[in-house]
Amino acid sequence: MATFERMSTILPDTAKVNSKGHLTIGGCDLVELASDFSTPLYIFDEATLRRSCGEFRGEFGKLYEDSLVIYAAKAFINSALAKIINEEGLGLDIVSGGELSIARSVDFPMSKVYFHGNNKLREEIELAIDCRIGRIVVDNLHELSLVNEVARKAKVTQDILLRLTPGIDAHTHQHITTGVIDTKFGLPIATGQAEEAIVKAMSEPNLRLIGLHVHLGSLIFSIEPYQKAIEIVFKFAAEMKKKHKLIFREFSPGGGFAVQYTQDTPAPDAAYYARAIVDAIHSACKEFKLEPPRLIVEPGRAIVGRAGIAIYRAGAIKDIPGIRRYVAIDGGMADNIRPALYGSRYEAIVANKADKKECERVSIVGKYCESGDILVKDEDIPRVVPGDIIAIPVSGAYCLAMASNYNASLKPAIIMVKNGKARLIRRRESHEDLMRFDSI
Ligand code: LLP
Repeated sequence: MATFERMSTILPDTAKVNSKGHLTIGGCDLVELASDFSTPLYIFDEATLRRSCGEFRGEFGKLYEDSLVIYAAKAFINSALAKIINEEGLGLDIVSGGELSIARSVDFPMSKVYFHGNNKLREEIELAIDCRIGRIVVDNLHELSLVNEVARKAKVTQDILLRLTPGIDAHTHQHITTGVIDTKFGLPIATGQAEEAIVKAMSEPNLRLIGLHVHLGSLIFSIEPYQKAIEIVFKFAAEMKKKHKLIFREFSPGGGFAVQYTQDTPAPDAAYYARAIVDAIHSACKEFKLEPPRLIVEPGRAIVGRAGIAIYRAGAIKDIPGIRRYVAIDGGMADNIRPALYGSRYEAIVANKADKKECERVSIVGKYCESGDILVKDEDIPRVVPGDIIAIPVSGAYCLAMASNYNASLKPAIIMVKNGKARLIRRRESHEDLMRFDSI
């Protein structure tokens, strides 16, 4: 099978191979894009992006009328993306004044913006309250007082959710599991802190507690952690209703929905997660005699992951006979830290040889000064020569968002493709940019 056919489940929806054997996305030839915009280049396929927004909105909306899908901006955000997310009817989960400012730059409806984070700064809370943010998801007792104080000064009553820690292991990488007791995030139910926060929140005059939130981790392939969390939170909510008259009008099981990165790791789709979550909510409402709350879900990776593809140009190739062949590209861990940080696996496709069948085993490495700068280990791809264009699918989430200027490298350009047209949505950094904030 040609490499392109094998990889169709991880490429953007519009991926094709043209008569030159080149990979195309959104009707644009990746080899031409590489020469027009240079490399490394991040390409977002607008069709895939809008499809995944529509899928999450549609699947949850179909099964649960009072639901809102909010995109977790931390996976990647810029103005162009925020505009599309709004056009697709999604809300936004933000975690900083920076993400909030990007949302404001495109007049994102603030009522649909949720502010997360375990240590929101006073200035960030002031900004959020000043622009009438929809909800602040309060993470801890310190923040509860801080939000109340800022809201009092601004003479408003702020709608809040409380982020709880249910004590569940989502069985994902330890850096991205957040539902366990031993985590920096949230108010643990087990230690009594969650209850303390509920009582406190209900007594603060400038806060309106309207519901509860949990986030279990990221890249969660199974529905079991969601089901368990719903059972635990709803049981707790019923208890709190009885004891303290808690109003449980809104609930969020967070995000964390998996995506397929490699051919051997298929992931469930939005419909599967929606069905499981909605069923679990209905049965928990029945069991604990609660009115169904409004449902908020927060996918990040599942919205942008597959819509993004990164392309690089191959340079030096190093053979260690009998051991390994290294193909070095012009990007690496500065634009995609995930393999080095989490041991994440990616696959590669040679964009100018997408129709080729014969392969050889190589490892694709970056250009940065660290041995761990390996993007793809031991993959079978068509024979690469310097100048070939290497594409890494499923690069839309947590690559650009976590990019650095390591080795004083330049953050890549980003384009959006659609119907044969490519538009720049963020220009490549320049050497002047690197010195812009320096002084001597
Ligand atoms: N909601 C909350 C409260 C979160 O903390 C997160 C992600 C999400 C939603 C979205 O999760 P997603 O649907 O994207 O899995 N840098 C890591 C992922 C960190 C996720 C942090 N929180 C990675 O590259 O895998």
